[in-house]
Amino acid sequence: MTPWWRHAVIYQVYVWSFADSDGDGIGDLEGVRSRLPYLRELGVDAVWLNPFYPSPQADNGYDVADYRDVDPRFGTLADADALIRDAHALGLRIVVDLVPNHTSSQHPWFRAALAAAPGDPARARYLFRDGHGAGPPNNWTSNFGGRAWTRVPDGQWYLHLFAPEQPDLDWTAPEVREEFHDILRFWLDRGVDGFRIDVAHGLAKDPAMPDVSESEAVHPHWDLDEVHDVYRGWRRIVDAYPGDRVFVGEIWVQSVERLALYLRPDELHTAFNFAFLTAPFDAAALRTAVDDSMRALDQVGAPPTWVLSNHDVVRHVTRYGGGALGLRRAGAAALLMLALPGSAYLYQGEELGLPEVEDLPDGVRRDPVFTRTAGAEPGRDGCRVPLPWSGASESLGFGPGPASWLPQPRAWEALTVARQTADPGSMLSLYRSALAHRRSIPALASGDLTWLPAPADVLAFRRGTDFLCVVNVGDTPAVVPTSASPLLSSGVPAADGTLPGATAAWYLVRD
Ligand code: NOJ
Repeated sequence: MTPWWRHAVIYQVYVWSFADSDGDGIGDLEGVRSRLPYLRELGVDAVWLNPFYPSPQADNGYDVADYRDVDPRFGTLADADALIRDAHALGLRIVVDLVPNHTSSQHPWFRAALAAAPGDPARARYLFRDGHGAGPPNNWTSNFGGRAWTRVPDGQWYLHLFAPEQPDLDWTAPEVREEFHDILRFWLDRGVDGFRIDVAHGLAKDPAMPDVSESEAVHPHWDLDEVHDVYRGWRRIVDAYPGDRVFVGEIWVQSVERLALYLRPDELHTAFNFAFLTAPFDAAALRTAVDDSMRALDQVGAPPTWVLSNHDVVRHVTRYGGGALGLRRAGAAALLMLALPGSAYLYQGEELGLPEVEDLPDGVRRDPVFTRTAGAEPGRDGCRVPLPWSGASESLGFGPGPASWLPQPRAWEALTVARQTADPGSMLSLYRSALAHRRSIPALASGDLTWLPAPADVLAFRRGTDFLCVVNVGDTPAVVPTSASPLLSSGVPAADGTLPGATAAWYLVRD
């Protein structure tokens, strides 16, 4: 039996913004549970939940204060158990987010570290260092802007590659390793099917802590070889559990070859493929991303994965140009992604064709990227606006309360799940059909990919012998290499059988 994660479609639920059961304007686990039938009907195989653990929410949950509980904003541990149970009853798997690079500054370990003197073992779980004169230990910068070091009253500095509220752990400390082994077991025992690993390429740091310099080939804190040993230890733990539990790494590295190293048979199972996400809507660029990824991952026996959007990037409708063109391209990209071998990740709302919300008022933005850059960077709130479910109330069915934590554009009244369910030409209907075909066509699960000759703006490939996907990324109609009528198309095919620009179609071919 092929493990499920080798060809699954995994739906990302950003808990803050998926569904609000109690009317406080913030999504919660009961909200997710109430909408599981929607996900089942959509046709996905698994759900990845963004962090729901107790947290001061300095980075919307990526600052974890307790790895073994649920933030009261989102519910209780009993709610998490009920969600896992109901999901399994519906045939949906649950993947939870694990944040090992850093804790919250409110985590008991960090509080103890602050209360301790320099040199105390309580500081050894984090990366405290003396400064250089009055300055920080080195020139490292935070991913969210500003320096990566914060000074504490006794004069030492601690490292945070993200916000100051997210101190980095020292993964050379045996206690840190043991703690995370135990956290893995805690959630595996509760029945989760896998873990998405946050910043998986960041755990190891060069102990000499040299300055980052353009000329050095090896970066001092990203993608160090020492990180792999951590994942070998984790793999031994999940392998001891029944069922096919999975690790998916969030790994931003220089090349797909470096990515593949994390997916060797005794490390992580899969990783997000950011080469595909970051490729422009261009036939050559997309094909290169597909070919390079498949070739590199095949070397280590890992399945390719595909993703177009997530909670950290501008939604792809907007990246692809926005408006009607962005929407057409997004539909075409979805059919491309779902026809490729391997597994695919959908980010909540992409099935509704939601665009980035670019005009949020400054006062409602929560992302530390916005605050730490003093507004120079808008941050990621624009892709985190709560989902429009139904109706015309202020929160568009997101919850029973009057509003949602980020205001939804009024235009989203036309994009609700209810409205799109009733429209066979909607993005939601396209996703539902594509996922239904993906489940029922054997070639889409196991057929080899073979590219067919095609004009410059067109991608055409077979899966197995009888499935054909054609993607026209150009602006003008393209001739397709079959006389069959499409099984599914992201746009209306022309009467002469050509495929319009920014459109993809799937065919079953006998020729
Ligand atoms: C990646 C997560 O996806 C992002 O949302 C978060 O801000 C950083 N890691 C830090 O945890």
